Amino acid sequence: MAREFNTVGVVGLGTMGAGIAEVLARTGLTVKVVDIDDAGLARGLGHLQHSTERAVARGKLDAAAKAELLGRISTSTSIADLADCDLVIEAIPEHVELKSRLFAEIDKILGPDAILASNTSSLSITEIGVHTGRPGKVVGLHFFNPTQVLKLVEVVRTVVTEPDVITDVVAFVERLGKSPVVIGDRAGFIANALLFPYLNHAVKMLEARYATREDLDAAMRYGCGYPMGPLALLDLIGLDTAYEILDTMYHQSRNRLHAPAPLLKQMITAGLLGRKTGRGFYTYDGPDSPNVV
Ligand code: 3HC
Repeated sequence: MAREFNTVGVVGLGTMGAGIAEVLARTGLTVKVVDIDDAGLARGLGHLQHSTERAVARGKLDAAAKAELLGRISTSTSIADLADCDLVIEAIPEHVELKSRLFAEIDKILGPDAILASNTSSLSITEIGVHTGRPGKVVGLHFFNPTQVLKLVEVVRTVVTEPDVITDVVAFVERLGKSPVVIGDRAGFIANALLFPYLNHAVKMLEARYATREDLDAAMRYGCGYPMGPLALLDLIGLDTAYEILDTMYHQSRNRLHAPAPLLKQMITAGLLGRKTGRGFYTYDGPDSPNVV
């Protein structure tokens, strides 16, 4: 019989975790979010407030529905509060040791049939899953930013994931109003494996002064119909996140298309991480600064 997912936990309330929590609450599920400390929770709740206010302002949600949605989300700094979850989705920073340790801890407190999922964009689900006593019930659930808007969720299976777990998780993703695709455990899965060499190439073209940031972005928006150009998209993703994804893919594949453009590292060192720090390839918190090269 198919599993029912009624209570779902989210660990890590950054941009992705908060977006995932919102999507779950919108579906009417009971959501339990855990972050490392009160400051992390406050930042995450700020994301949730901002996003739901935006939905109210656009007439997509009324004030009562917004209050109801937020009321379905409870917060904690202790993973012990996830004990009655049917599914837990982890969305903490991309460090395999950190994730493995967390999975081992959550595994001990969850019921035997509960599923553990990681929102990792490029780390190995197999490697994380072996730290639990239930590797057959560990999957990847990779959402896309902005989570509230983008429909794709990559469902990642390992060589030991139980087939019924995949069937149930795919049905669950559809219940969220999203479009699942199922993929094996390899760095970048489908979308990032195709997207990041392209984004990286755009940075290399800018670095070589091949074209300006505006023209690079305009070419892909107006020539290919992409909603954003590659440099604007990197600012949305976060240059630090993009670097980590490329670096992981490069270490796994040794494909030079994945070797992060040196300019990315320089911008990260200078604190130009994109929208989250107010400046990346473009400026978001003041008058626009010139091209970085
Ligand atoms: N949070 C919540 N909702 C948002 C949002 C956000 N951050 N940004 C936009 N929206 C909503 C708006 O409220 C609006 O909703 P409505 O249609 O219901 O009123 C809708 O999205 C459209 O927004 P806008 O009209 O403001 O702007 P656009 O039409 O230009 O869309 C965009 C903005 C959705 C960001 C679009 O430009 C887009 O899809 N860009 C590409 C994003 C992309 O490729 N993401 C993937 C990144 S890779 C990734 O996430 C993988 C990871 O591993 C790194």
